[in-house]
Amino acid sequence: MPNHLQTVKRSKRTKRRQTPQIVAAAADQTRYILGVVPDRLAHSEGVARRAQFLTQTVAQKDAPLLVAAAWLHDVGYAPELRDTGFHPLDGARYLRSIGWSQAICDLVAHHSGARFVARFHDLDKQLARYRFSLDAVSDALTVADQTTGLFGERVTVEQRMSDMLRRHGRDSANALAHPDREPYLREATVRVTARLESFGVHTELTELAAAAH
Ligand SMILES: [Fe+2]
Repeated sequence: MPNHLQTVKRSKRTKRRQTPQIVAAAADQTRYILGVVPDRLAHSEGVARRAQFLTQTVAQKDAPLLVAAAWLHDVGYAPELRDTGFHPLDGARYLRSIGWSQAICDLVAHHSGARFVARFHDLDKQLARYRFSLDAVSDALTVADQTTGLFGERVTVEQRMSDMLRRHGRDSANALAHPDREPYLREATVRVTARLESFGVHTELTELAAAAH
């Protein structure tokens, strides 16, 4: 492991983080790890902003968990953390190795329907070591990611999915997984929209959900 990441490992091996300070720690960690890939960092900042907005769709106690996971969800893209080459798994493994909670690592491992794609990398058994929960937090993280573009800009779920298919190519694992993964992404968007509307919050996500039908 590179020296500067060993430094992170030591500095972040702290007692369990159950307080909102995990958000600041996650932001610092992400800026450090993804500083070498500015586009990914900009995307992660955008996902964290979006997740902050979506905290109103989760239990108050889970809000820090959601925003911290949003910051950290793509750290597996850092070249120095590359192991299997499947970024949700590489990120989760690294974060667990430096002491982040199982709950954070589970969310990172499974963000945006990673379980559908893992099969096509022959990594489904390894990913299954992390637990997927179909709940308000995982929905909000996935929707935050799927409504944030590569540079942190807001996009629709439709734009995000078509961009993903274009970037990865027709024969990619992402493309092969898409028939199974797409309904999950759309349904998560619908669920998050319904939660927002139950609080009287009407946003462009309503339009996103309409497009997702
Ligand atoms: Fe992402």
